[in-house]
Amino acid sequence: MHIAMIGAGYVGLVSGACFSDFGHQVVCIDSNAEKVASLDNGEMPIHEPGLAELVARNVGQGRLSFSSDLKSAVSGAEVVFIAVGTPSRRGDGHADLSYVYAAAREIAGVLPTQAVVVTKSTVPVGTGDEVERIIREQNPTAKVTVVSNPEFLREGAAIRDFKHPDRIVIGTDDARARSVMAEVYRPLHLNASPILYTDRRTAELTKYAANSFLATKIAFINEIADLAEKVGANVQEVARGIGLDNRIGQKFLHAGPGFGGSCFPKDAMALIKTGQDNEAPVRIVETVVAVNDQRKRAMARKVANAFGGNIRGKSIAVLGVTFKPETDDMRDAPSIPLITALQDMGAEVRVFDPVGMEQAKKVFENVTFCDNAYRCAKGCHALVIVTEWEQFRALDLKELSTIMACPVIVDLRNIYSPEEVERNGFLYCGVGRPK
Ligand code: NAD
Ligand code: UGA
Repeated sequence: MHIAMIGAGYVGLVSGACFSDFGHQVVCIDSNAEKVASLDNGEMPIHEPGLAELVARNVGQGRLSFSSDLKSAVSGAEVVFIAVGTPSRRGDGHADLSYVYAAAREIAGVLPTQAVVVTKSTVPVGTGDEVERIIREQNPTAKVTVVSNPEFLREGAAIRDFKHPDRIVIGTDDARARSVMAEVYRPLHLNASPILYTDRRTAELTKYAANSFLATKIAFINEIADLAEKVGANVQEVARGIGLDNRIGQKFLHAGPGFGGSCFPKDAMALIKTGQDNEAPVRIVETVVAVNDQRKRAMARKVANAFGGNIRGKSIAVLGVTFKPETDDMRDAPSIPLITALQDMGAEVRVFDPVGMEQAKKVFENVTFCDNAYRCAKGCHALVIVTEWEQFRALDLKELSTIMACPVIVDLRNIYSPEEVERNGFLYCGVGRPK
């Protein structure tokens, strides 16, 4: 099939590359000409494991290309995916749909007569109706169908998630569009990934419900972690104890500094707005967002508590600043409010991240950027692990104890055993584990 993918960001680029790997002919279109030029040169605009190889293979075999010329790419496509950003709208927290509607306006006049338009961007209920209206207004004779096909991949594991999804959700009542989408996803269906066919509005809501439910699980276990600290229990064992119940499941029960990233915070907020607009408030999600927002600064107090509440003049090393490992994405990373709070308390902050340094330099001010974990820790009063990159799991604790000014480790991801760290002479502070 001929596929046009509008937006070559995390989702558009990964989805486009994977579709081409299935054998489809794919053009990824991006309005950012620099991005297209670097992709043409084989340079990936994002850090995503396996992506460079996947792209190179499919470009080499002539199935994948990049363009900023939307008109010619779309006019030859049977299926046009919209995978542009839907960030939080400044000021009110609604999803900003301006990029989606701009894309709809741009494609409207050039769509082939029977094209299927698919919103892969995460969009609030009713967005598909508006995309359809925009297209019909400009192109009243075209037999265009607008389908909702939300994406569930995670950054850092995006290719695996795309190729082995737990499910594919396709929202349309149109029989022809369903069969076109079945063809698009045929290789996955053959691999036994279930396809859930539903109506468009249900598909749109499913995506927000999924992200908000996962965010709720995290916020829940984080509150249990706080309680565990007070009552002398171990949150990791509680998580295992509840997670082994299949009705609960073990995933997304890792306590930490609060969820971040380009999606959970903004999608939970957008669902809250949809609920409020429709007089069906999702109060649980409202609480989840409030609890999670407070948590990130509270993590700075956890650091201060290791020094009797006062870290003025102290030097703090922060390891890992991206919102999760295996990505360079800094959007809504918990490290941002955490570092700001440490600075507000008068601490001097040093930072190291394995791949996020370039992005981090655009975000943080008055921070010392270091080129490895040990140079970051040198002379510091505390080492704070914020993102659980693999390379932080086996730090040389003996070496750290000799180069740090004060032996304190605050492990916000529980990647160390307290006994091991304390054996090396450190004061150790994890999340939700007994002292
Ligand atoms: P992104 O910001 O990384 O990429 C969006 C791209 O679209 C940018 O490169 C931008 O230049 C381009 N663009 C914007 N308007 C355009 C236009 N009119 N024509 C051509 N290109 C245009 O965003 P993302 O993280 O890939 O997210 C895209 C959507 O997918 C969002 O709705 C997001 O919620 C959803 N989503 C993201 C993830 C994720 O892991 N990042 C996972 C699932 C769903
Ligand atoms: C998330 C969802 O997992 C994807 O299914 C979805 O497609 C995507 O959002 C999206 O819509 O963009 P992602 O944000 O890439 O994916 O990463 P996650 O692995 O879900 O992590 C999100 C945040 O939750 C991170 O800050 C992570 O550290 C935190 N988290 C996750 C925890 O604190 N504890 C956990 O147990 C799991």
